[in-house]
Amino acid sequence: MIRIAVLASGGGSNLQALIDAWEAGSIKAKFSLVFSNAQDAKALERAETHGIETVSITSKGYAGTREQYDEQILGLCQDKKIDLICLAGYMRIITPILIKPFLYRMMNIHPALLPKFGGEGMYGHHVHEAVIAAKEKESGATVHFVTEGVDAGPIILQGSVPVSAKETPETLAEKVLKVEHHIYPEAVKLFCEGKITVEHGRVKITL
Ligand code: GRF
Repeated sequence: MIRIAVLASGGGSNLQALIDAWEAGSIKAKFSLVFSNAQDAKALERAETHGIETVSITSKGYAGTREQYDEQILGLCQDKKIDLICLAGYMRIITPILIKPFLYRMMNIHPALLPKFGGEGMYGHHVHEAVIAAKEKESGATVHFVTEGVDAGPIILQGSVPVSAKETPETLAEKVLKVEHHIYPEAVKLFCEGKITVEHGRVKITL
């Protein structure tokens, strides 16, 4: 049985989508940990409601280095024999200390069609504002493996939505979030079924 840890900083609607798919029996795994860098993250509350263990270590004002912080997460994941880490609105840059041991075993969801509109500073409303400013005809969401480049790892799944002439960052965010809630559980399900491999830096899905 695959053991999953989810790292989240905020509302946790993607976490909720994963939990829902698990409770519906489509993701066959154990959610062993939900970790947050913010004590008041709603994601922690959601996890507790569903009986999932939670840990939070406040990152604001943390005295150590980013590496020391990530070492603590790594320790937790190793203790719990985690197979897959899912970043779900985790608002911190992750260091190689955590990325390397979980290479191709750590996923992220990004609210745009990568490789467009990714990288540092491209998060939350900034992404949707940039998409609208570029007059894109479509946007969407991407699930990808986490590597050392920000938003640069192999793409697992994408889903797109049209961008209308009247679109605002808020309406676009809402549409994209719906896609996220669909493709993230699907990607995790495929991983748990052993259907995802990475060859020469590209994801191969065996159906
Ligand atoms: C999502 O838009 C996701 O793409 C981004 O952060 C947001 C998290 O939303 N990485 P939630 O906390 O899952 O509701």
